Amino acid sequence: MSREHVMQGSAIAHPNVALVKYWGKRPARGNLPAMGSLSLTLGFLSTRTTVRFDPAGGQDALTLNGRRNSRDLKRMQDCLAPLRRRAGESGSATAESRNDFPTGAGLASSASGMAAMALAGASALGLTEDPALVGRAAMAGSGSAPRSLHGGFVLLSIDPEGNWSCASLLSPEEWPLKVVVAVTQAGPKQTDSRSGMELTRRTSPFYKAWLASQSADLEDARRAVAQRDFGRLAELSEGNCLRMHAAAMGASPPLVYFNGATVECLHRIKTLAHDNRPVFFTVDAGPQVKAVCLPDVLDEVCDALGQVSGVRQVLSGDLGGGARLITG
Ligand code: DP6
Repeated sequence: MSREHVMQGSAIAHPNVALVKYWGKRPARGNLPAMGSLSLTLGFLSTRTTVRFDPAGGQDALTLNGRRNSRDLKRMQDCLAPLRRRAGESGSATAESRNDFPTGAGLASSASGMAAMALAGASALGLTEDPALVGRAAMAGSGSAPRSLHGGFVLLSIDPEGNWSCASLLSPEEWPLKVVVAVTQAGPKQTDSRSGMELTRRTSPFYKAWLASQSADLEDARRAVAQRDFGRLAELSEGNCLRMHAAAMGASPPLVYFNGATVECLHRIKTLAHDNRPVFFTVDAGPQVKAVCLPDVLDEVCDALGQVSGVRQVLSGDLGGGARLITG
């Protein structure tokens, strides 16, 4: 079918925070992670994206937070490629994306960005009836992005052949945990996740041990979520997070994503937990700390992290739903 008009779609997606993390890709398999992961979708942070396809042609372009962005253009093109192929669309694509939170600082902007991109692109091309295709587009953009297509507690499973699936285990209402983000640095991180995980895979002597521990963590975390066992989920998440960072610190040159305030926040959270407050931490590839807690201790956790020297901002809120279409 030949099209003559500009086609447009818009979507919103929330970032997610992984409790069992993805850190390492399958060699020579495009953007496919080497392991599964389990995450929480963060309803209080959002990315809004509009994608336009112009059959008349021209250059592809990406605008992020109001500025032309050439660094992430390839990522956008990788994400849209499966959709363009399916639709036989050979014109140009332009996307405008906006985050309401610090970009590129370990708050999973690539996950929400590529989930919103995939859904908006699919909407523009009339392909939203095929969720597996939207999932593949999100995955092509970022290995954590398929999780942001879903809400609440999300499991991304991958078998040894590389077949994968992604689905929500529990909705936000089924286990309404709260998440607190302590922002300890506003600018972008020094080593992005993609380069960091590849450096870790290639050079860290701890990478194999990290990889080997993943499937047990994933299965245990899945069970803890099903049983709503906060204590077990806390233990698994903190252990998994620190093992990922240990593998990264073992890379050559070493990767240290923590700053001083990050470490201090971890200690504050451990002190609260020691005093029987239901709270645990996790940290992705950046210096920000995420605390997961039960609703009745939310204010206490926010206060404790807000008092840590070096914490610039404390954001908090509920788990959120999956990506959805909006009017542009
Ligand atoms: C530490 O999904 O950002 O946040 O696939 O290269 O885009 P790409 O990497 P990305 O890496 C996520 C790393 C992590 C852990 C996680 O979210 O599972």
